[in-house]
Amino acid sequence: MDKIVVEGGARLVGRIPISGAKNAALPLLAAALLPTGASTYKNVPQLADVRTMAKLLRMLGWDVEFGSKTEITIAPPSGKKKPKLEAPYDLVKTMRASVLVLGPLVARYGRARVSLPGGCAIGARPIDQHLKGLQALGAKVTLDHGYVEVEAKRLKGATIVLDMPTVTGCENLLMAAALAKGRTVIENAAREPEVEELATVLNKMGARISGAGSALITIEGVDELLPIEHAIMPDRIEAGTFAVAAAMTHGDVLLEGARPEHLDAVIAKLRASGVTVAAEAGGIRVRGTGELTAVDIITQPHPGFPTDMQAQFMVMACIAKGQSVIKEMIFENRYMHVPELGRMGADIHIDGRVAVVRGGAKLTGASVMATDLRASASLILAGLVASGKTEVLRVYHLDRGYEAIEKKLRAVGAKIKRAKQ
Ligand code: EPU
Repeated sequence: MDKIVVEGGARLVGRIPISGAKNAALPLLAAALLPTGASTYKNVPQLADVRTMAKLLRMLGWDVEFGSKTEITIAPPSGKKKPKLEAPYDLVKTMRASVLVLGPLVARYGRARVSLPGGCAIGARPIDQHLKGLQALGAKVTLDHGYVEVEAKRLKGATIVLDMPTVTGCENLLMAAALAKGRTVIENAAREPEVEELATVLNKMGARISGAGSALITIEGVDELLPIEHAIMPDRIEAGTFAVAAAMTHGDVLLEGARPEHLDAVIAKLRASGVTVAAEAGGIRVRGTGELTAVDIITQPHPGFPTDMQAQFMVMACIAKGQSVIKEMIFENRYMHVPELGRMGADIHIDGRVAVVRGGAKLTGASVMATDLRASASLILAGLVASGKTEVLRVYHLDRGYEAIEKKLRAVGAKIKRAKQ
């Protein structure tokens, strides 16, 4: 297994190209189950999660081919080959986003059997809203030996009011409703840019979806979807992570391809911390010009501050001037980075969903590890400013969601490398 080794103290200067978004790529790959022919995506990030989704689509019977490094073509089973409508436990347990095949398979083939994901490192994360929505569309949902089985001859449009704006839940329902008979309305829908991206792609395929990006989405079902070609949007969380790296190292970095309109809440908090952020032709420029000051953060569904940036901002709070209060409102257990940061000298106190961070810490390098993706990224950020050497172990978490993070950081001056653990 690999580890990442960072020597702290380097100032980051230069340009970092932002890859395609993981959380857009995963639903888009699942959406390729819907059209009648082969679809091609460009700007696909090279990530473990994307490879897992490709593996799942292959197991279902689809032909998945990586063209150039960032291009993927997904074709339905050819000839007499029948699709296998099941996502097995082995895959779902390594990647929860496997549940995204549920909606498209039921909509197109009338049946799907998907292992229930169970809890994960950051919280319980049930999929009750996905299932409630599919039931509202007329599907029969049963639980069988740890698997959910969903069946419907043809889904029928309905009004679905989500209990909370779930991102993948909304995406599953968009894909299901696209081929349902009649009109579906999703109320309290997730407004994340990745949901909007999926709706854009489904519309390119011939779906009739309006309102994506708002809390009310309307879908007029169609009988058939057609293959398309599409370049995936840039990853706003990868961009946000590198923005924090630039700010913490008093650097000057252009995040190439990043879209400011996807990062309003993050940019507002960076500015409130004293960081200079400017939208420029070709991306977002981030400069850590003065002293970092403490800011309070509450994670919320989009357009609120993203939970996927909470760990990174907490590291910045550790070295900022003053005290920050951070509230994690999306996942109940998303503070796994805290004990590890404590080992590096951070002063953080947790009480339930609230973390109080006393700033001004002088972080020191250590061997650390975390059990999820964004927590691991935050440890790399800590290593960039810590004195001496930091080793981040269990790098496979990082490889799920950051493409070549060490290469991108090295190119702007970080002293960072991958080594055998
Ligand atoms: N929830 C339910 N029932 C459901 C669905 C969700 O109670 O049926 C709860 C969850 O437990 C959570 C909240 O609703 O408390 C929001 O969860 P959501 O469903 O929106 O999360 P998700 O769709 O499972 C996606 C991203 C996550 C990101 C969250 C929140 C993908 C593949 N994953 O997860 O990304 O943190 O939205 O924005 O899109 C990451 O990239 O590191 C990551 C974890």
